[in-house]
Amino acid sequence: MYEEAAELISNAKRVTAFTGAGISVESGIPAFRGEEGLWNKYDPIMADISFFLNNPLESWKMIKEVFYDFFGEAEPNTAHYVLAEMELSGIIKTVITQNVDNLHQESGSKNVVEFHGTSQKLICVNCYKKHKIENIDLIILPPKCPDCCGLLKPDFVFFGEGIPEHARNKAFLEADKSDLFIIVGTTGEVTPASSIPQLAKRNGAKIIEVNIESSTFTRDITDIFLKGKATVELENLMEYL
Ligand code: APR
Repeated sequence: MYEEAAELISNAKRVTAFTGAGISVESGIPAFRGEEGLWNKYDPIMADISFFLNNPLESWKMIKEVFYDFFGEAEPNTAHYVLAEMELSGIIKTVITQNVDNLHQESGSKNVVEFHGTSQKLICVNCYKKHKIENIDLIILPPKCPDCCGLLKPDFVFFGEGIPEHARNKAFLEADKSDLFIIVGTTGEVTPASSIPQLAKRNGAKIIEVNIESSTFTRDITDIFLKGKATVELENLMEYL
């Protein structure tokens, strides 16, 4: 399988990696779904935009615990570093990620499309100014905008919110132009993100998928399924490139 996958990669003209929470599990960040999934412990309503705007304190308590206290110390793992290495050596052009943990950038990936935004900035729902998370104190919740005292919200996409336009455009451009997608660690259950690899497939792209178990993509669009942990499968694949 690795040889076949390596063959596809070396014959491809433009390769995009598409990642989900599974790539960060080995950095200590639990996935959202599955038995240990975050949505089994926390009610996803806390990450719904209308709930957040009506119950900012309750929502921020969960957001702080999950996305800042807990994720805060996470470091990139081998899988992130392999993708960064692949970009550096010109094997892949872009990483489109659904993750908001910034671990692709911290591992050295440069061309990263954050389809669901980022936890590294907070945006004011009143004046729309963005503030780096390190400049905002999360001791007092909900955090307020230093400029206008408006409510601050993480700059990532809540349920019920639209995808940032620049991310959407860049992602769908890659779905148009790439002839190979490497999907890593995602159930493919969330739209519109999951339509990106599907569109690529419809445009004739080949699909390599890395996951510890099959996903909604595996049956429908995956050409080569590397079943296993992202760190192991990507490191093994790199040996053949
Ligand atoms: N290596 C590879 N894959 C893994 C690993 C691992 N070590 N551990 C878990 N996985 C896989 C799981 O099998 C699952 O398919 O990662 C996937 C995680 O799925 P989800 O938790 O649904 O994460 P994701 O697909 O990224 O969710 C998409 O949903 O809640 C929203 O906005 C949130 O971006 C997120 C979106």
